[in-house]
Amino acid sequence: MIEAKIRGLGTYVPERVMTNADWEKILDTTDEWIVQRTGIRERHVAAPKEVTSDMGTHAARRAMEDAGVSEEDIDLLICATASPDTLLPSTACWMQPKLGLEGKPAFDISAACSGFVYGITVADQFVKSGQYNNVLVVGAEMLTRMVDWQDRSICVLLGDGAGAAVVSSQGEGGRILGSRLHADGTYGELLWIPAGGTRMPPTLETVEKRLHYYTMRGNELFKIAVKSMADVTKELLEGLAMDSGAIDWVVPHQANVRILQALAKRLRVPWERVVVNIERYGNTSAASIPLAFDEALHDDRIKRGDNILFVSFGGGLTWSALIVEW
Ligand code: ACO
Repeated sequence: MIEAKIRGLGTYVPERVMTNADWEKILDTTDEWIVQRTGIRERHVAAPKEVTSDMGTHAARRAMEDAGVSEEDIDLLICATASPDTLLPSTACWMQPKLGLEGKPAFDISAACSGFVYGITVADQFVKSGQYNNVLVVGAEMLTRMVDWQDRSICVLLGDGAGAAVVSSQGEGGRILGSRLHADGTYGELLWIPAGGTRMPPTLETVEKRLHYYTMRGNELFKIAVKSMADVTKELLEGLAMDSGAIDWVVPHQANVRILQALAKRLRVPWERVVVNIERYGNTSAASIPLAFDEALHDDRIKRGDNILFVSFGGGLTWSALIVEW
């Protein structure tokens, strides 16, 4: 049987750092509120000329270099994003020529913060089926350009960044053991962009009412996030006949440090085993898991042979889990 492995990883964040103190200057908020409620201290913000596909391209190039593969080796490009360059074409298609992958299949996954795990899972299936040898999965988000900078209930939470992985039939370690994906569209309006699609096409009125920005009912999402991430992890562990003691590291989607503390408790995983970097990046949606994973690899917390749980939750609603034997 063909195995699918994460063969290389790469990340990118824009240079500009925006602190909570910077938000205090333009918004009715405080560093204290943001840190206490979310754990976030700063986030990266893209330069005016940058677009999502630029950030994804930087991360993808680094992942290809890390994996030791060239353009010819890549069979498929998947981009997970909730902040695309344009509604049409896909961000993957914008990224494709920047990466020299013209002619190769390319598509986006719209699963918000769960997008990276969804993308790795799709890549896993293509590799295991024998159809492709190397799939490039990118999570790229420019969320600071998708939120209303006057809406304190969401703008202080989000940040920009990108992460990418090469999922391959070759390579040492990084074996994908299994994954589980879920979605429940009945909760779609808990986190959405009301206007700009067929449901509410753009008009002067939709712009005046600021309906083209992310809108979130954070409080309601909080409880669902903890439960669904814990449930999908249990389901995956059961399917793999593992127990939570077998997880060496949890690399979760970084939406709120309090969500992660509650999750660790429910999973009975020691807090020191949860990789958390939300304080420096905020919520970067589909980029948050690769950004956290890359950091824990580079500071040598994660070693070869460790079992790593990726678990995520986001707009859709979507939630998912995946375990890799590094
Ligand atoms: N600064 C100061 N006060 C604020 C701010 C702010 N930035 N934002 C909200 N407040 C106020 C509210 O107005 C409210 O005031 P009130 O009590 O006078 O009405 C008070 O703070 C409490 O607001 P809540 O929304 O109840 O605060 P909560 O403790 O729930 O924290 C948060 C909000 C951080 C959004 C939290 O609910 C959360 O993290 N939810 C989950 C988010 C999530 O997981 N999203 C999905 C993934 S993201 C994706 O897919 C892109």
